[in-house]
Amino acid sequence: MSVEFCGLALAHPILNGSGTFDAIAARRAFGKALDDAFPFAAFVSKTITLAPRAGNPPPRLWEAQAGLVNSIGLPNKGLDRYISEDLPELARLPVPLITNVMGSTSEEIAALLRACDTRAEIAAVELNVSCPNVHTGLDIGADPAALERVLRAVRAELHKPLIVKLTPNCADVAACALAAQEGGADAVSLINTLRAGALTPPGPQDDDATRQVPWLGGGTGGLSGAAIRPVALAQVAAVAQRVSIPVVGMGGVQSAAHARQFLGVGAKLVAIGTESFRDPSAAARIAAELDFGHRPA
Ligand SMILES: Cc1cc2nc3c(=O)[nH]c(=O)nc-3n(C[C@H](O)[C@H](O)[C@H](O)COP(=O)(O)O)c2cc1C
Repeated sequence: MSVEFCGLALAHPILNGSGTFDAIAARRAFGKALDDAFPFAAFVSKTITLAPRAGNPPPRLWEAQAGLVNSIGLPNKGLDRYISEDLPELARLPVPLITNVMGSTSEEIAALLRACDTRAEIAAVELNVSCPNVHTGLDIGADPAALERVLRAVRAELHKPLIVKLTPNCADVAACALAAQEGGADAVSLINTLRAGALTPPGPQDDDATRQVPWLGGGTGGLSGAAIRPVALAQVAAVAQRVSIPVVGMGGVQSAAHARQFLGVGAKLVAIGTESFRDPSAAARIAAELDFGHRPA
């Protein structure tokens, strides 16, 4: 049994959430054993930008009561080094590669799509629209009109499936999903992390208990993991009711029962993110339990 997604035949409906599984490092550590039991039906790269990014200063992680606040800041080596250094390695994975990209202008996004279009190793592109628009300061994906405009301007650059990864930090995620569809997206994925902050615990010497200092080097971050699952389920359900293109659901999935909930509210595929940090074999366990005929070796 397999799952058809934007023309790709996938062994089962479980992917990784971008930025939560380093397949190159895992392959170095486990070699062929990883290929033989690769946990995901397709692999999504972490976000790549045109120019290299250093990411945010540390600390970058805060463990919340039922989740994780990260302020990684999308560090990456930039498009050119992704293509020359990472792509040859990612192309050796036994599943289709989805490259996740982000830009802050139509021109930047167009250049990223154009580059992905020429590379046979890349099966599809996921566009992360949780990026501030340089003109308005608003996230591109939070404003339906701006999102549709940007997509219409860039869509012709890519002759492969385009997945738009929506931001949950907006007023009406279903309106944004519809705008993505109208702009030419072949699928939407959600949810990305929810904007969140964490405060440094007061030390024993702190005499002023009202003084609150942000813990994260980047000031604020994004919440993921079990805590966001109810929000993710509601947003995925709202989006699946509004659009006719396939939906990739994610947010706090830890078990096959959780994955079934996302499939039940209309997701075609389900991605595993934070849970892979706690249990690197989580996706394999969930895929096997869903019983799509897929068995880890
Ligand atoms: C440490 C970390 C890094 C992430 N990096 C990216 C990224 O590079 N690009 C992206 O689109 N989403 C990124 N995400 C968001 C995840 O792909 C996913 O949308 C989100 O974490 C919700 O799923 P989860 O609760 O299963 O983790 C990251 C999440 C975490 C926790």
